[in-house]
Amino acid sequence: MKIITLALTIMVAVMFVGSAMAVPPGKTVDYAGGALGKVVFDGKIHAEKGLKCNDCHTKIFQMKKGSTKITMADMNAGKNCGTCHNGEKAFKSSDAASCAKCHKK
Ligand code: HEC
Ligand code: HEC
Ligand code: HEC
Repeated sequence: MKIITLALTIMVAVMFVGSAMAVPPGKTVDYAGGALGKVVFDGKIHAEKGLKCNDCHTKIFQMKKGSTKITMADMNAGKNCGTCHNGEKAFKSSDAASCAKCHKK
C-alpha cells in the first residue's frame, strides 16, 4: 500500500513538473502585433506539431518572454518565427494569406 502511494506521489510530481514545463510555461506568449492585431504564440499547438524545446530554445528564442524583438522584416528574412514560417516547415510569413493566421483583431 505504501509503495503504491509513493509511486502515485512520484507520478503526480512528474506530471506536475511536466505541465509546468508546457511550451512555454503558461502556454502562450502574447505580442501586441501592431495595426494588424495581436499575435498569440501557442506553445501547445507547436508541441502538438511534434516540436521539442530545443527546436526553439535556445538557438532561436531564449526562455524568457520579450528577449527577442520580432519584426516582420527579420521574420521574412528567415529569423525568429520565420526560421520555420518560411513556406517549408510551416506557412510562409510573407504570404498575404498568412497574416491572419497569426494576427488576430
Ligand atoms: C516553436 C518554438 C518553441 C518551442 C518548441 C518551445 N518554445 Fe518556449 N518559447 C518560445 C517563444 C517564442 C518564447 C518567447 C520568447 C521571447 O519572447 O523572446 C518562449 C518562451 C519560453 C519561456 C519563457 C516564458 C516567460 O513567460 O518568460 C520558457 C520558460 C519556455 N519558453 C520553455 C519552453 C520549454 C520547456 C519548451 C519545451 C517543452 C519550449 N519552451 C518549447 C518558443 C518555443
Ligand atoms: C508566424 C506568425 C506571423 C505571421 C504569418 C505574420 N506576422 Fe506580423 N508579426 C508577428 C509577430 C510575432 C510580430 C511581433 C509583434 C510584437 O512584437 O508586438 C509581428 C509584427 C508585425 C508588425 C509590426 C512590426 C513590424 O515589423 O512592422 C506588422 C506591421 C506585421 N506584423 C504585419 C504582418 C503582415 C502584413 C503579415 C502578412 C504578410 C504578417 N504580419 C504575418 C507574427 C506574424
Ligand atoms: C521550430 C519551428 C517553428 C517556429 C520557430 C515557430 N513556429 Fe509557428 N508553427 C510551426 C508549425 C510546424 C506549425 C503548424 C502549421 C503548419 O504546418 O503550417 C505552426 C503553426 C503556427 C500557428 C497556427 C496555429 C493554428 O491556429 O493552428 C501560429 C499562429 C504560429 N505558428 C505562430 C508562430 C509565431 C508567432 C512564432 C514566433 C514567435 C512561431 N510560430 C514560431 C512551427 C514553428
